[in-house]
Amino acid sequence: MKHFILTTTIGALSLAGVAFAHAEVSNPVVKDRMELMDTIRGSFATLGGMAQGKVDFDAEKASAAQATLVEAAAKIPAAFEPNEMDPESKALPAIWDNWDDFVIHATALEGAADALDPSSLDTIKAGVGPIGASCGGCHQAYRTK
Ligand code: HEC
Repeated sequence: MKHFILTTTIGALSLAGVAFAHAEVSNPVVKDRMELMDTIRGSFATLGGMAQGKVDFDAEKASAAQATLVEAAAKIPAAFEPNEMDPESKALPAIWDNWDDFVIHATALEGAADALDPSSLDTIKAGVGPIGASCGGCHQAYRTK
């Protein structure tokens, strides 16, 4: 019981940390795109967690996470198109210098997310690799470390 309370507290604290980080962002355009990335992170964490055995496999939850991921990926170009900055942002100016390439990375994520088959644990395991690679590919080029 004690352990449960401790884990829950730590969980709540880290969630609060995320909300606080966004509260520091004054530019609403930047805040929105960070929140979109958080949605992407959350749905990918569900699928990745199942693949790693950290989250129980549930085809319905997997399907919902996949749908959220595909939908959010489709919103990346519109969310990043305005060339806006904020001191809290990790976006690199290269995004707007190489806009077409940035959109290709967004489309790659959407395609990889769409290709995942959420109906079984095996197909989820096969599908998360290409999704993770597309996150990394874009962050490598367009986000500060
Ligand atoms: C098309 C490029 C692109 C793709 C694909 C992409 N990201 Fe991002 N991501 C970015 C950029 C750029 C930022 C920095 C945004 C900022 O700080 O203004 C970012 C920021 C983030 C953040 C930090 C958000 C915050 O609150 O500051 C997380 C988490 C994240 N991405 C997760 C992911 C995950 C997980 C995937 C894949 C499932 C992914 N991203 C795919 C470009 C991308």
